[in-house]
This record gives sequence, structure tokens and C-alpha cells, in this order.
Amino acid sequence: MDGNGRWAKQRFLPRIAGHRRGVETVRSTVRACVEHGVEYLTLFAFSSENWRRPPDEVSFLMQLFIAALEQEVAKLHENGVRFKAIGDLSRFEGPLRQLVADAEKLTADNKRLTLTIAANYGGRWDVMQAVRRMLAEKPQLAANFTEQDLAPYLSAAYAPEPDLFIRTGGEKRISNFLLWQLAYSELYFTDTLWPDFDNAAFNAAIASYQQRERRFGRTSDQLREDSAAHAARHADAS
Ligand code: IPE
Ligand code: MG
Repeated sequence: MDGNGRWAKQRFLPRIAGHRRGVETVRSTVRACVEHGVEYLTLFAFSSENWRRPPDEVSFLMQLFIAALEQEVAKLHENGVRFKAIGDLSRFEGPLRQLVADAEKLTADNKRLTLTIAANYGGRWDVMQAVRRMLAEKPQLAANFTEQDLAPYLSAAYAPEPDLFIRTGGEKRISNFLLWQLAYSELYFTDTLWPDFDNAAFNAAIASYQQRERRFGRTSDQLREDSAAHAARHADAS
């Protein structure tokens, strides 16, 4: 979610007005995902690098997280949304951590959409904490371990790897988001600023995704043969 500050600047407003509008976009995007049957939405809300921003802006963002949690969690729960947070939450203050823990607990059994907020998150941090936790639990793996050994310790292990990555705001970078999990994701970059990322912009991203051919290292011919075989199996079964 990038471009809140520029959105505000274009309107001669303080940056925080852009963040406030950005929360509206979070709301509409969650709704769009529920309507489209998207089962996992992961939002990069605050990176481990964002602490370097002016203290006033950081503290405003913290207030905004708290207010959003206080106001939205009950509604998320009513709509069957499971709430999760990933990142090093230890740097956040107690009340915010408590709200996150309560929201995760309340919504734990919901199945419609898993909404993950990445806060004080970094992709490299994620891989490092996974290695540390894995070795603490299974020291015998130190000599030799596989991707499958490590995967359960990544912070979003409960979610499949993302099909589609969207970055708003014009930059064409991953910026240390889900580095491991994005290995085969389709990447979509748009100049639209996050507060302007409305339903039409969301639909354009989905439409772009639908035109991609996901080969996972294989050839187009192999994919065509596979889907022909798949269709034939279904015809037999019916
Ligand atoms: C993203 O918008 C919001 C957060 C990181 C919380 P920015 O604040 O990065 O907006 P720009 O990039 O300055 O326009
Ligand atoms: Mg930015």
C-alpha cells in the first residue's frame, strides 16, 4: 500500500490525511476480496524501515492501527474474516499488541477471507526468524535441512503462497515484503496511489492476473497437455 503521502500532498493536505484515506481503501479492498471469493489478502501496513519516518507520523500510524482495530474487528468477525498479523510485533506498545492478539483469537475459526496485516515486517527478517525457530526446535537439522523443513516456520505458514502481488504508488520494487513466498507470484505494479485504489483499480489488477499464464518453470505446451488430460479425466468421471 504505497502513495498515501503523495495523495495528500497533491491536495495540499498533511501526510496523515493520506493515511486516514488509506484506511478507507483497506476497507473497500477487503470488501472486494470477500465479494470476489479471494481467500487470502495480505497487506503491507508498516515495514521494519518505516520506524525511520518522523516520530509524529509513526505515532499517528500507531494511533490509526489502534483505532482501525477497535472499530473494524467486530465487523470483520461478522463477515467471516479471519484476522492475522505477521511481523516483529514486540516493538509495538502493549495495548496495540493486545488488540491484535484479541482480534486473532476472536476470528480464529473464520473461513471466508484471511486478512493478514504485515506490521514491522521484513521478508529477510521472516526467513531469519524461521531459521532460528526451526533450529531451536530441531537442532539436528543444523547440518542439513530442506525448503520443506523451513516452510512451516515462516510467519505466514498458514497461508498459501500469493498468486498476485500488487504494489500501488508507482515504485517497481518488492521492498522486502514476502520475499520467500513471492518466488512464483505474478507481480502487478500500478501508478495509482493507494487512496485512489478503488474497485475499478482492483478489478484491473485481477483482470491483468487472469491474462497471465502461470507455468511454474514448465513450457506452454506442457500446460496445454496437462489441461487436456485434466478435461479428459473429468469427461470420464461424468
Ligand atoms: C504508504 O504510503 C503508507 C505506509 C507506509 C503506512 P506512503 O506514506 O509511503 O506514501 P508516499 O510514498 O509518501 O506517497
Ligand atoms: Mg511510500
